[in-house]
Amino acid sequence: RYPAPALTRRAFLASTAASAAGAMLPLLPTSPATAATRDVSLRPAAGRLRLVTPGETAAWLYNGAAPGPEIRLRQGERLRVTVDNALAEETTVHWHGLRLPNAMDGVPHLTQKPIGAGERFVYEFDAIDAGTFWYHPHQKSSEQVGRGLYGPLIVEEPEPLRVDRDVTWMLGDWRLTKSGEISEDFGNRHDIHHNGRVGNTVTINGRVPDGFAVRKGERIRLRLINAANARIFSLDFAGHEPIVIALDGQPVTPHAPEKGLVVLGPAMRVDLILDMTGTAGIRAAVTDRFYEGLEYKLVDLVYDGTPVRERAPDWPLALPANPLPEPDLEAASRNEVVFSGGMMGEMVAEEMGETMGGETMEPGAPGGRMSHAHSMTAGMMAMMNSGAAWFINGVAADESGHDMKPMLSLERNRSHVIAMTNATAWHHPIHLHGHSFRVISRNGQATRHREWRDTVLLSPREKVEIAFVADNPGDWMFHCHVLEHQTGGMMAVFRVA
Ligand code: C2O
Ligand code: CU
Repeated sequence: RYPAPALTRRAFLASTAASAAGAMLPLLPTSPATAATRDVSLRPAAGRLRLVTPGETAAWLYNGAAPGPEIRLRQGERLRVTVDNALAEETTVHWHGLRLPNAMDGVPHLTQKPIGAGERFVYEFDAIDAGTFWYHPHQKSSEQVGRGLYGPLIVEEPEPLRVDRDVTWMLGDWRLTKSGEISEDFGNRHDIHHNGRVGNTVTINGRVPDGFAVRKGERIRLRLINAANARIFSLDFAGHEPIVIALDGQPVTPHAPEKGLVVLGPAMRVDLILDMTGTAGIRAAVTDRFYEGLEYKLVDLVYDGTPVRERAPDWPLALPANPLPEPDLEAASRNEVVFSGGMMGEMVAEEMGETMGGETMEPGAPGGRMSHAHSMTAGMMAMMNSGAAWFINGVAADESGHDMKPMLSLERNRSHVIAMTNATAWHHPIHLHGHSFRVISRNGQATRHREWRDTVLLSPREKVEIAFVADNPGDWMFHCHVLEHQTGGMMAVFRVA
């Protein structure tokens, strides 16, 4: 009854053969971008998944797999995705990081009616920006993503960067029970009030891999996508020197990451150039060092086969810029946003109260109007008395997303600075829909790369300023991508009109 998956077995075999060196880690099925409109079918449904060997896990899958098919198209092409919802509940698909028309953004009750069980919805939009993106439901995100609904979306540059291999690693994080099933404790209060649903099993492309075969001297473009609900990665590539060339799909001046560690909060992407400079025959562990004392080995790079070359090639590293409008900081309107809540929030709120001169944002005040309203204290009270855990300018959104009123109104085609204060004791990856923004400062210091992002990780108590031209009309979500924080109220709507 449902259309067959758009990616053929032939395309899958072709892509697998082309990268036989990576055979130990399954590559995502890929079809080359050719036509001007790419037609893809996605069928979310319950199924079973081989995460670890042996054994299978009941999960929710796109086209029978997690991640779902890697959608690949060329910049400037049009994508048409027919979604047939074979789940027993409503869903939507959000195209994370893509600048597209509001009606295609996949936010239930805000940009569309949710897709009911057995219903179909067709998404169609142009790929304006080249880069590494992804898709996932925006309906009950914590549970639907946490059960396996996510997939990569790659928009190729017209002239691909010269590398030996272009590889996607979609990182997943699962909370499995001893018998290997997905733990059913979605939306529990502890996760919501602390650092979210951090799991116990990290997968790359839906599998706990034995190893990733590499050859000495080869150059890999590694596209990392963090599809975890809550886990933050700080990846150590074991003596290799990764060069960051894009963040959240947007090109950045090629640079070595701080301390050599590649940091990705939930939803973030990093494109790396990885020169395989190790010695033939060695195994080198890629390790997550974000959680102190809880180092987690993701995979071994396994040097195998004959060397490709003796030293790293001297090919260009810089990607061509995407057509993003440059914000005018002089003329920009300024908006203040304060995040509060979570456990230990009260203490932090007091501290922040001092540094902010006792002033807090008036809930929902447009244009960053300051007031002496005691919104954080009120927020704390509200938290004690209800399920709400997290607040943006003193307001906790209802998790259903029904009847959300815009918190900020941003004048269309004007430059805007959003000055964000994290008045909590926790990390938050903050995501804005429909736009990419420049990260211009952290704690008052100008950032080195003024990077474009769609999701920015705020450390506890950190202040971050972002700037962008609000050129995409509509009501756009602005939320924390720790999906349990989103459930706990940490989302708002920005209206661009
Ligand atoms: Cu990745 Cu509002 O989403
Ligand atoms: Cu958060």
